[in-house]
Amino acid sequence: MKKISIIGAGMTGAATAHWLAERELADIVLVDVVEGLPQGKGLDLLQAMPILGKDTHIFGTNDYADTKDSDIVIITAGVARKPGMSRDDLLTTNAGIVGNAAVETLKHSPNAFYIVLTNPLDTMSYLTLKRTSLPRERVVGQAGILDSARMRAFVAMETGLSVENIQCYVLGGHGDEMVPLTRHSNIAGVPLKEYLPPDRLAAIVERTRKGGGEIVNLLKTGSAYYAPGAAVAQMAEAILKDKKLVVPCSAYLQGEYGLEDMYFGVPVVLGAGGVEKIIEYQLDDEERAALQRSAASVRETHEALKRLMSL
Ligand code: APR
Repeated sequence: MKKISIIGAGMTGAATAHWLAERELADIVLVDVVEGLPQGKGLDLLQAMPILGKDTHIFGTNDYADTKDSDIVIITAGVARKPGMSRDDLLTTNAGIVGNAAVETLKHSPNAFYIVLTNPLDTMSYLTLKRTSLPRERVVGQAGILDSARMRAFVAMETGLSVENIQCYVLGGHGDEMVPLTRHSNIAGVPLKEYLPPDRLAAIVERTRKGGGEIVNLLKTGSAYYAPGAAVAQMAEAILKDKKLVVPCSAYLQGEYGLEDMYFGVPVVLGAGGVEKIIEYQLDDEERAALQRSAASVRETHEALKRLMSL
């Protein structure tokens, strides 16, 4: 059986474990600093397996040694957003936590792939790459699948059509400057523009950009976790099953899209080699300008991280 370790057994960590366990993909280890929390959630999830008929083994621990020989390490540890906070506001606290999680897990699983979920997402992925010194194929951030899924859900709500037929692509940084690519998005092959009038489409784009904040404002005590967890589970499955899945993810760019030395949301091929390829879409001037604006904002957070951590 393959092994997946999830660092941070809070809301997103537990939701990720839940979606993964249902897929019966790998045994799961939940790690957290709080004593009893990962153990309790691990046991609770384990006890759901007989009901689901899945032979997934799940357990929680406070000891990184238990993550030994993981195939995938998922980092969700850190603090979540509260109303009034941007994802970037989390930088100082989460950088220390994520940096430590990356170093500690690598000691026990030098061959693992890393999927990062902690915010600010692009910058925490960058930090994980720098702290582990792994090749870029092995460190990827989750953002684009979630942002695209939010847009798909909103389009389904508006049109009444099946989410299965709705394909949307959101690129760029995981912040309010993200770039929903309406021209590339479609319903069963027909461009969105032919289904929705410009004002409705614009409203969906805006709601997608603020999708995380909408949930933070409703929950008040934390941020989204079901959909982020489902997105991470899809990424882990693509890697373990070598699916060659084309999805938007935060990947380390070395010249693609004219960007260098930064993590940014782009379409990638996910397979047994991790981020096996970065796909470069043909963009028009408006899309390129929007991506540049988003990149400028991610770069600012990267620079703040470099000052903070002396990278
Ligand atoms: N090592 C391991 N776990 C830690 C550490 C650490 N050094 N520091 C904190 N944690 C744990 C907390 O104890 C908590 O259980 O991380 C968990 C975070 O869980 P929540 O507070 O429920 O937050 P969650 O909603 O899971 O969000 C975590 O993911 O989506 C992002 O923006 C979100 O950055 C946030 C992260």
